[in-house]
Amino acid sequence: MQDKLSKIKQKALTKINQAKNLADLNKVKTEYLGRKGELASALKDIKKMPKNKRPKVGKLINEIKERLEKEIKQKIKKFETDKSKNITKTEWIDVTRPGIRPSLGHLHPITQTQKEVENIFKRMGFEVIEGPEIETDYYNFEALNIPKDHPARDLMDTFWLKTINGKSQIANRNNNQQSVISNKLLLRTHTSPMQVRIMEKRKPPLRIIVPGRCFRHEATDASHETTFHQIEGLMVGKDVSLANLKGIFKEFLTRFFGPKTKSRLRPGYFPFVEPGFELDVSCVICKGKGCSVCKNTGWVEIIPCGMVHPNVLKNVGYDPNKIQGFAFGMGLDRVAMMKYGIDDIRLFYSGGLKFLNQF
Ligand code: PHE
Repeated sequence: MQDKLSKIKQKALTKINQAKNLADLNKVKTEYLGRKGELASALKDIKKMPKNKRPKVGKLINEIKERLEKEIKQKIKKFETDKSKNITKTEWIDVTRPGIRPSLGHLHPITQTQKEVENIFKRMGFEVIEGPEIETDYYNFEALNIPKDHPARDLMDTFWLKTINGKSQIANRNNNQQSVISNKLLLRTHTSPMQVRIMEKRKPPLRIIVPGRCFRHEATDASHETTFHQIEGLMVGKDVSLANLKGIFKEFLTRFFGPKTKSRLRPGYFPFVEPGFELDVSCVICKGKGCSVCKNTGWVEIIPCGMVHPNVLKNVGYDPNKIQGFAFGMGLDRVAMMKYGIDDIRLFYSGGLKFLNQF
């Protein structure tokens, strides 16, 4: 019996040794260790043996079993390490194959245009400043020489924040209580309030531009949106005149639209400038011949501007007899539409990738 067992053991060990893959190993495993395997049947044969020899043989069978299990386990481990070492042989990888390109986003056309305008003005010594989108009645209107009940307010209908007893309520984030702001709050209708905020804080001379989002409560169409962008400009000092305004616009238009762009200044009314102008550029789309964008006039109105009104200067504590300057409020969306030949402002806010991927 012992002879027979040692033969079984030897045979099993050679087979394990010769196994080339997991399938071979499994076969050996069932052949020797399985329920109907060689060792199991040897165990049955014990019954036929004399009682005193049984324990010894039983022990031997168990030892063989343990040895074989151990050998099989080691061999499995070896297969696994070999596999990871030889992965390039068994599973071929073409390292020269191009990968899957991640799709990259880019800046929105409005932001691109804003950066471009900013860069042109920065080179002319202007500083870029941003301001709050929620404004008070005072900064948005009153300080800009637009008193209550002034008809100019009708041109800038906006979204007001909820008021209780005529006072705006805004949640105080820190203690979750409501703090009362004595001035009525609104979404700013233009970037001009920043003229006042900056002049209040600083002494002249000043040369700033203020890009930002503005809001108006109005029906939307191809050239109007409730949300849009402006770039405010302000240059004040001792001798700042209309000649500076014209010079700076000439430089800006040449750099932004190209040297052949023509421009003209027409009178325009804004309560916070005197005199006030509209700066028109020759239509970039039709080169001034007349098209739907310029309503067949050959000109597009893009930059309202003028000399800062003495009342505004007084409101911020400047002396209008000593200090003067100009301001403008460029419609950023409009400028971008002209530059890229876009005929509907609503496309900018549609989030449509077909549109956005063109920029
Ligand atoms: N804030 C004005 C508007 O939104 C534009 C403007 C700015 C006009 C500065 C003159 C000077 O209509």
